[in-house]
Amino acid sequence: MILDLKNIYKTYQQGRIPVPVLKDVSLTVEKGDYLAIMGPSGSGKTTLMNIIGCLDKATSGSYSLAGNDITGMSENRLSDVRLNSIGFVFQSFNLLAKQSALENVALPLLYAGVKPRKRRELARAALEKVGLGDRVSFKPTQLSGGQCQRVAIARAIVNNPDLLLADEPTGALDSESGKAVMELFKTLNDEGMTILMITHDQKVANHAKRVKYIFDGMLSDVGFEERAEMAAQAASEWSRDAADAADAPKEEKKEAADGQQ
Ligand SMILES: Nc1ncnc2c1ncn2[C@@H]1O[C@H](COP(=O)(O)OP(=O)(O)OP(=O)(O)O)[C@@H](O)[C@H]1O
Ligand SMILES: [Mg+2]
Repeated sequence: MILDLKNIYKTYQQGRIPVPVLKDVSLTVEKGDYLAIMGPSGSGKTTLMNIIGCLDKATSGSYSLAGNDITGMSENRLSDVRLNSIGFVFQSFNLLAKQSALENVALPLLYAGVKPRKRRELARAALEKVGLGDRVSFKPTQLSGGQCQRVAIARAIVNNPDLLLADEPTGALDSESGKAVMELFKTLNDEGMTILMITHDQKVANHAKRVKYIFDGMLSDVGFEERAEMAAQAASEWSRDAADAADAPKEEKKEAADGQQ
């Protein structure tokens, strides 16, 4: 198992007022999985991503990632985990503007202490993998949005992480570039990469192997449309029951009248 969250709560403190954001979230992700999490604005998606990405800590609950217990880890070890086990892809790419695609992709390797020559070799291979072998020396301003996101994906996978974590990876892209990013995720997942992606877009979520939903800080297997359908069904059952209840006395009276004849 790559990821195991058990009974996670996150409560922010707004002055003296506690703001509960995540409520009893449990989630497991196996190696090779591709999971999308959908939820409305303010439901706690980024909060959950920050905890999974070891950028923030849960208030309570337990979390293990690739067999490591994250819950009690020191800040130093957490940054090791971030560097070695997780690849991040953000909506806004987060590339360094003055560095070339190659330098951007090589950055995590620099932090990991990989030698310059090996860094260049691995970064070039990652850029080739995302279809940008001919753009290695281009800076972000010389690349399209879709290409920037592919550089960011190359950076995320360059040190072969256990988990690729993406927060609205197509949010800033036109539909064609978004499609290319989804195709790339599919290829990476087919090759064994475990992916967890957050999105607002049902069409994007449909690319994943499974989808979970978050509402008001609680995870659910039931989505927006199903919820609306269930609510509509419950309402119609309720109104049918109410109509039956209103009819019942009349029928009793009718039966009584029939009996007297
Ligand atoms: N540092 C903080 N202090 C207090 N409350 C916070 C803090 N960060 C987030 N929240 C609250 O937690 C809730 C969830 O925020 P979060 O950013 O996780 O939502 P989200 O699902 O990512 O929304 P969006 O789709 O708009 O990005 C919000 O109500 C927000 O006000
Ligand atoms: Mg968010």
